[in-house]
Amino acid sequence: MAYSKKLGNQFNKVVKIYEKAREQYPPQLINAIIKQTKMSRESVVLDIGCGNGRSIIPFAKTGCSILGIDPGKNLIKIARKKSREQSNIKYKVTSFEKFKDKPNSFDIILSGTAFHWFDKKTAYKKASKLLKTKGGLVIFYARSNNQTVLIKKLTKLFEKHCPDHKKTSNMISVIKEIKEEISKEKSLTKPKTLFFKKKAILSKRQYMDLLNSYSFIISLDKKRKTFFFKDVKALLKKYKSPLEIPVEYIALVSVKK
Ligand SMILES: C[S@@+](CC[C@H](N)C(=O)[O-])C[C@H]1O[C@@H](n2cnc3c(N)ncnc32)[C@H](O)[C@@H]1O
Repeated sequence: MAYSKKLGNQFNKVVKIYEKAREQYPPQLINAIIKQTKMSRESVVLDIGCGNGRSIIPFAKTGCSILGIDPGKNLIKIARKKSREQSNIKYKVTSFEKFKDKPNSFDIILSGTAFHWFDKKTAYKKASKLLKTKGGLVIFYARSNNQTVLIKKLTKLFEKHCPDHKKTSNMISVIKEIKEEISKEKSLTKPKTLFFKKKAILSKRQYMDLLNSYSFIISLDKKRKTFFFKDVKALLKKYKSPLEIPVEYIALVSVKK
């Protein structure tokens, strides 16, 4: 997948929608990552692409010192507001490409539904360099199971209306590519995969908000967006409310050798 700065920066435009539409990561996933990385109050952690705080705030309960970075000013503003009582979380507005710190600075690096936005030519090497030896790199994702009839039909609408959809929406290939890139980075171990499933129960309105938080839909011009949502509404009319959307959560955990 080609690195797209334009698409990666879309979320900052729709912070309110992002905040209400993206469900929290399930506690099973968060707890499994904490256990696998042995995250504790002694850990120094970096969350790359922390967005509105969804991927950083749940880890602060370990008492670790955690820094969240993201180029989205508006997203960080919301994250700061939501976690103002948690003094162990700090934030910095910057992209990963521009972020600077000393090598061997972090025990754990996290990145939730974000790593595919970073320049892969430099991202894996840079993450590994920032990690201490035996430190953990955790790249995790939430994705809709694309084998359901509804998602297959929606994918046809993405193909019809959304020119940017191919660049980002296929999470199966995103994860495959990430595994391949990690295996090319000799300083990192082959990743262990953690996997969880959940059924999201969403009203049709909530589901449309979720679609509105996808980069390739945010990037549509007004006219295309109107046509896209007209087709989506017609499709959803055939389904009972609430919708049951199977969601899969995957974490790839590698260790710096
Ligand atoms: C789908 S959101 C995920 C946000 C959050 N981690 C979560 O789990 O909800 C992707 C995030 O990656 C951030 N992002 C995009 N390009 C980036 C880059 N080059 N460096 C760091 N973060 C980036 C976006 O601003 C956005 O907040």
